[in-house]
Amino acid sequence: MPARQTILVFDSGLGGLTVLREVVRARPDARYIYVADDKFFPYGHHGEQQIIARVVPLVGELIDAHEPDLVVIACNTASTLVMSHLRAQYQVPFVGTVPAIKPACAGSKSRRVSVLGTRGTVKREYTQALIRDFAQGCKVTLVGSGNLAALSEAALSGGAVSDQDILAEIAPCFVEDSSVRTDTVVLACTHFPLLMDRLVALAPWPVDWIDPAPAIARRVADLLGSGCGEADHADAEMIFTSGRRHPLRQTLAPFFGGRAPA
Ligand code: DGL
Repeated sequence: MPARQTILVFDSGLGGLTVLREVVRARPDARYIYVADDKFFPYGHHGEQQIIARVVPLVGELIDAHEPDLVVIACNTASTLVMSHLRAQYQVPFVGTVPAIKPACAGSKSRRVSVLGTRGTVKREYTQALIRDFAQGCKVTLVGSGNLAALSEAALSGGAVSDQDILAEIAPCFVEDSSVRTDTVVLACTHFPLLMDRLVALAPWPVDWIDPAPAIARRVADLLGSGCGEADHADAEMIFTSGRRHPLRQTLAPFFGGRAPA
């Protein structure tokens, strides 16, 4: 029997779990290592050079320690900066997470699309280039949220997060001019799908929320092959760079395909 493949999924915090969940669905047989760089969270509040200087060597250390077959950078704020550095320095295949502007604009009927990311992601040249190349005539509104990643973490960890606080972060996505309204919002931060039910409920009008996680999972399966399909419920590990343990580890199990991470 061929050796089990190891997939390492990396984010600044718990947001990458929304990507992990889809990757586990596509490759239930793989071993998973999830790394939350909570010591440096939130990435959206750091400068570009600081993020590159933090993430590139850290991912190198993780590759040395865990020898993964593939690394998913499940963070837009980092991926829009570090992918070329990682690919230049390490041999392992990488899959990044960048704003899904192309499919969003291709699918928008009103031709009004909003991109909801961290302040860092919406400022990036990478994101501007995606708009230049793929807006396909749509009007794109960039919305940088300062707090929604932290609110998403708080909600997942069982904290009370008010509707008002969420609405304040998402309201600028809803644009109406000459009776034409935004009909598509790109979730350009992997944390935000953690609040999906509340985003849908609080939206001033219905929109398509574009979560790139299923496309990322397909890319992983393309690169690694579809595997043997057999789940290994024992093998998942969760690492926080702060060294803490998540108090609700069992509640994170659904993101790992039902396995409780060690
Ligand atoms: N989950 C990260 C992303 O996709 C960012 C959250 C943070 O600011 O650390 O952009």
